[in-house]
Amino acid sequence: MTLHVHGLSAERSGQIILHPTNVDFKPGERVGLVGASGSGKSTLGHELVDALRAQGASVAHVPQSPDEALDPLRSMAFHWREAERALGLAPDDARRTLLFKALQIERGDLRRRPWGWSRGMQQRFVIAMALIGTPDLLVMDEPTSALDPVVAAGTMDLLDDYLKDRQTALLLITHDLGLAARRVARLIVMDAGRIVEDAPTEAFLASPKTRVAKSLCAHRNWLELPC
Ligand SMILES: Nc1ncnc2c1ncn2[C@@H]1O[C@H](COP(=O)(O)OP(=O)(O)OP(=O)(O)O)[C@@H](O)[C@H]1O
Ligand SMILES: [Mg+2]
Repeated sequence: MTLHVHGLSAERSGQIILHPTNVDFKPGERVGLVGASGSGKSTLGHELVDALRAQGASVAHVPQSPDEALDPLRSMAFHWREAERALGLAPDDARRTLLFKALQIERGDLRRRPWGWSRGMQQRFVIAMALIGTPDLLVMDEPTSALDPVVAAGTMDLLDDYLKDRQTALLLITHDLGLAARRVARLIVMDAGRIVEDAPTEAFLASPKTRVAKSLCAHRNWLELPC
């Protein structure tokens, strides 16, 4: 199913922080959303999630830090069960085993609380949780910025493998063009609450059109980066 939202916008304290914006995703499409800090990436991500859910689409959101998704007082088993319950799904050990294998967290002890797992494992758990309902779209907002580069790259590799041949589209929000360029087929660039460029990754890198896109390309040695 192609996802399409029209006229997303946001205003805070009397200021327009997201100007009217249209976005679409083909099934399984991988899209990066890049731009300077404060350009409106997270705002667009949140508005998109709300608008698509209101249309009845299944959309999962992975925040920057696992702290935002995990309650330190609850066991990992509790979090998993709650995620299933929120989706109206019965517990399914086979589904959990498949996702745990895909994200390589089979060794994690579900009886422990989040602090019993490393940060990298916690974030993989959160990504696995987001995939329980086989969403139409997975929105990841700086999903690996709190992880060391090796763990971050490994996590993105596992996610790439899992999403391959699946219909779940991905929106990867990041200020890191190096990360996005390696992972997505299409790049959207934001500046001051507006989408200023939307192009296939290769075309974008070969000839960025706007000042912001040129500056992002110039300041990121994206071929050298590990993830
Ligand atoms: N509640 C709010 N009140 C006023 N301004 C806000 C509010 N929330 C966000 N903004 C402003 O909206 C703009 C966009 O914020 P947003 O968090 O979407 O940017 P971002 O591109 O995700 O930045 P970052 O890369 O730092 O995460 C920023 O200038 C921010 O200061
Ligand atoms: Mg943000």
